Parts: sequence; C-alpha cells; structure tokens
Amino acid sequence: MGSVCLSGGGSLHGSVRVPGDKSISHRALLFGAIATGTTTIEGLLPAEDPLSTAACLRAMGVTISAIDSSGVVRVEGVGLDGLQEPAQVLDCGNSGTTMRLMLGLLAGRDGRHFVLDGDASLRRRPMARVAKPLAQMGAQINGRDGGNKAPLAIAGQVLSGGTVRTPVASAQVKSALLLAGLTASGSTTVIEPALSRDHSERMLRAFGAELISQPHAADGPTAVVQPGSELHGQHVVVPGDISSAAFWLIAALVVPGTELTIENVGINPTRTGILDVLEQMGAPLEVLNQRDVAGEPVADLRVRHSPLKAFEIGGDVIPRLVDEIPILSVAALCAEGTSVIRDAAELRVKETDRLAVMARQLRAMGAELEETADGMVIPGGQRLKGAQVDSETDHRVAMSLAVAALIASGDTTIAQSEAAAVSYPSFWDELARLQRS
Ligand code: S3P
Repeated sequence: MGSVCLSGGGSLHGSVRVPGDKSISHRALLFGAIATGTTTIEGLLPAEDPLSTAACLRAMGVTISAIDSSGVVRVEGVGLDGLQEPAQVLDCGNSGTTMRLMLGLLAGRDGRHFVLDGDASLRRRPMARVAKPLAQMGAQINGRDGGNKAPLAIAGQVLSGGTVRTPVASAQVKSALLLAGLTASGSTTVIEPALSRDHSERMLRAFGAELISQPHAADGPTAVVQPGSELHGQHVVVPGDISSAAFWLIAALVVPGTELTIENVGINPTRTGILDVLEQMGAPLEVLNQRDVAGEPVADLRVRHSPLKAFEIGGDVIPRLVDEIPILSVAALCAEGTSVIRDAAELRVKETDRLAVMARQLRAMGAELEETADGMVIPGGQRLKGAQVDSETDHRVAMSLAVAALIASGDTTIAQSEAAAVSYPSFWDELARLQRS
C-alpha cells in the first residue's frame, strides 16, 4: 500500500484538465453496450470505477476496446436483449455506480442468472434502496442482510412498469430503475424526493430512448421511460468531472499565492452545487468559455486564493454536491465564521462513512469540528498541523487530505493514497506538476 508525503507552504500555478466525468463514463459504457451498433466515447475516465463497469460488460459478451489514457473507447453494442449470462461473478470493485446500475440493467433479463460482488467497502454499502423498488417491478434479487448487501444474486424476470418512488435522492437508484424500465412491460415512472444528477436521462434520450423528465412535477422530480425503443450507438464526448475539479477549486482558494485554471469542466446544473457554495463563500470564481458538448454544458473555471466566508448547506442542494462535501469540509476550516453541513447522512454510506472519516482525519491534523448525525459544524480560521493521516481507502478522502496537507504547517503523510485512482489516477502527478509550475 502506498503513501504520499506532502509539505505545506508552497503554492500551485497553471492550468489543469481534469479527467472525464465518472458518472457520464459509466453511462456511456452501459448504454453503448445495450445499443445496436458502435458507440465511440471520447474523454472516458480511465480510472478503476469505469474499468469495473467495462469488465462486467465484457463478461456478458460486449466488446469494448482497451481503456487507456487516450480516453477513446469503442463499444460494440449487443442490443437491448443481447447481454449473455456471465460464466463468472461480476466484480464491481469499489464502484457503487457499477453495482446499482447493473442491478437495474440485469433484473429484467428473463431466465438469466447473475451474481454481483465487490470489494470490502462495496460489500458494506446498502443495495436495498435499488433492490426494493426493483422488486416492485417484479425483480428477484437476493443477498446478505435480507437482500441489502453484496454478494447479490439476480434471477432475471420479465418486469412490469408502474410508478416507483426512490427512497433517497440518488441518481444511482433512479438510473437503475430507468434501465429496468427500458425492457419492462408498460411505462415506468420514477419519482425522486429531490432532483439528483440527470446524466442518464440526457444520455438515454440521445441514444433514442423514449424518456420524459419533469424536474418540477408536483409529486417530486419525475422521469418517465417507455419500453421498447431500440437504442442506437452514439458518439459520446465526456466532459471533465466537476467532482475532480472541486479539489483544484478549493486548493486554489485556500493555498496562499495560488491561481489555477481548470479546463473543460462539466457544469450540468444538477452537479454545480459546489459553485453555488463558492459563491456563498465570496470566492473569486470566473466561469469562462461556456459551451455545450454533446448535450452537456461545459466551461473553464478560473480561481485564485482569497479570503472566504463560512457557508451553510442542507436540503435540495445536497444531491447537487454530495461528492464535494469532504473537500468542502477542508474549505470550511479556512473560512471566516462557522460553516454548517446538514441533511448529508448519505455520506455515511459512501465508499466510507465520509463524515466520520473526514472528522477523524482532520482532527489528526489538529482541526476542531463537530460531527453531527447528518453533517458537520466546522469553525473557520483554523491552522492545521502536518500529521500522519489515512484515506481509509476512500478516493475523495485521499484527495481532500492532500489539499489539507498543502495548508498545514510541516509535513503530512497520507496513507493509502493510491485510493485516488478510483476516480483520478493522475491526481498525484498533476499535483506535483502544479506545485512546480
Ligand atoms: C453517482 C451518483 C451519486 C454519487 C456517485 C456517482 C452516479 O451517488 O455520489 O459518486 O453516477 O449516479 P448516489 O446516487 O448514491 O447519490
């Protein structure tokens, strides 16, 4: 297992192009696999999580070209009903998106049997949030803890559509249900408690699915998919991941003397909660060169070191920045005033319990903060001290601690730093390059 040693005190300069959006990369592979014809993907994230999705699809007979740093990938679609029963267990690795979307994709493969498994972290994560609404459509999914935990066995069935409500505002749950709806009998209506990222809806429509989104419906954000439409292979251009850009955005704001331009960042409004919070904090953020790339809005972001005000977040913004809360907790330590994060209990069932892990690791660096049941209360104006910290295997924790190390006095060693490769394999090299520039 690897560790990285970082010294506080320097500054970062230059431009950085973050790797492809993780959510969009998974979806491009999955939808390409069940389309007819070839899908070409540009900018696919060549990281461990999308590799897990690709490996599962290959095990079911889908031809996918090598995934490397070029980001250019070809998927030879097998059609809506062409996935073969795999001879082996489908290994989803560390990827919740892979496992949850696979549940929806495979539950309706009548007569076929599938087993999904993952690493120790994924085996702890709740899957009933997908399996239960799928069961309402007729799915048969069994697993540990009453069907809540992997390994999970799927006995493919003919599913029926209907109206299903997701128990949490989760794009993984919503996407699983929409995927199941593609081959169900009758239309499937999915209603969420709050709007989660809408990449599936956008991309499924682009592939030819009959799908309507009503984000402001009276009952809650709603998506309706009709079964039967064949999907057609597409050219997908994946924008840079705003969740990866977030580490550089906060680094630029909190590390004295720093100015960074982050290029080609996806700014889909269901993902830009972090930009709203930065505005609340008074950050000097410039959104440049706004454009539309293959159905997703994209821009370059420029930001520099600046004093920051504390923030308060909760409610509907949480799904729009759910992956950015670990790095926001680092920003809060540097702000003027006390920041408050509420309604974020979902963080406890991510790759790790991110509220507990961030609180534990930041305290090891001398931070004082309060962990609450569904968030954190973080006084600002704090000075961190270099320390021995640990990602506890969580990619977003690893990168958040890297930013914390840059503002700490002395040296910080981050154990299990290799976790960053789950979503950002070149993170440590990019950090070293921006420190040299
Ligand atoms: C994702 C949705 C989010 C996010 C995860 C990726 C997706 O999870 O945290 O990193 O690609 O749909 P939830 O759907 O559980 O909120």
